[in-house]
Amino acid sequence: MLASQDACGAACLSSPSVTRNPPSRVAFAFSSSTVLPLHRAIYVSDAVGGAATSLLVLAEILGASDRNNRRDGLTGVLMRHGGRFMQAIEGRRADVDRLMDRLRADSRHRNIRLISDQDVPERLFRQWPMTLVEMTPEARLILNGATLDQLGADRAQAVLAVAAGALPLPA
Ligand SMILES: Cc1cc2nc3c(=O)[nH]c(=O)nc-3n(C[C@H](O)[C@H](O)[C@H](O)COP(=O)(O)O)c2cc1C
Repeated sequence: MLASQDACGAACLSSPSVTRNPPSRVAFAFSSSTVLPLHRAIYVSDAVGGAATSLLVLAEILGASDRNNRRDGLTGVLMRHGGRFMQAIEGRRADVDRLMDRLRADSRHRNIRLISDQDVPERLFRQWPMTLVEMTPEARLILNGATLDQLGADRAQAVLAVAAGALPLPA
């Protein structure tokens, strides 16, 4: 599954990705073969203070994410919902681990719980160095009344992938 170029083009590449649902397909795609072995971590955390609602905080996070993740060959998605963050990060294990260390030291959230932390055959979110996804009606169906911190690995990944438009709604 390769990203296709769309009308967004260079404008999307030059600015951090704040997502329409599904996010625009930007002209950015990692080939999984260039960064094997691949790793994907999904975690949930509690937003602290203004980080739960502030657009400015989100913009700051996405700005740093876009810059650093392009540098480090990382891709992924970030969701903020119900006072929590859930994020998928994929790339080389060492780069994912380095980012997790920075995330643990970030006072804008706390209580990071790893939901999933495993080697994977390919990227699910290869179009995005990091993009914000919203809770869509389709993703809410998978959530089925649960909060983000109640999800297991498969449902957490499905919520993020369906919200990002990277996967159709499971049958
Ligand atoms: C919920 C959340 C998600 C974040 N995601 C990323 C990310 O994907 N990449 C990243 O580099 N920083 C991310 N950050 C910011 C890092 O914690 C850290 O502040 C940043 O990497 C420091 O980068 P700098 O040294 O370039 O300022 C995130 C922070 C929060 C609170």
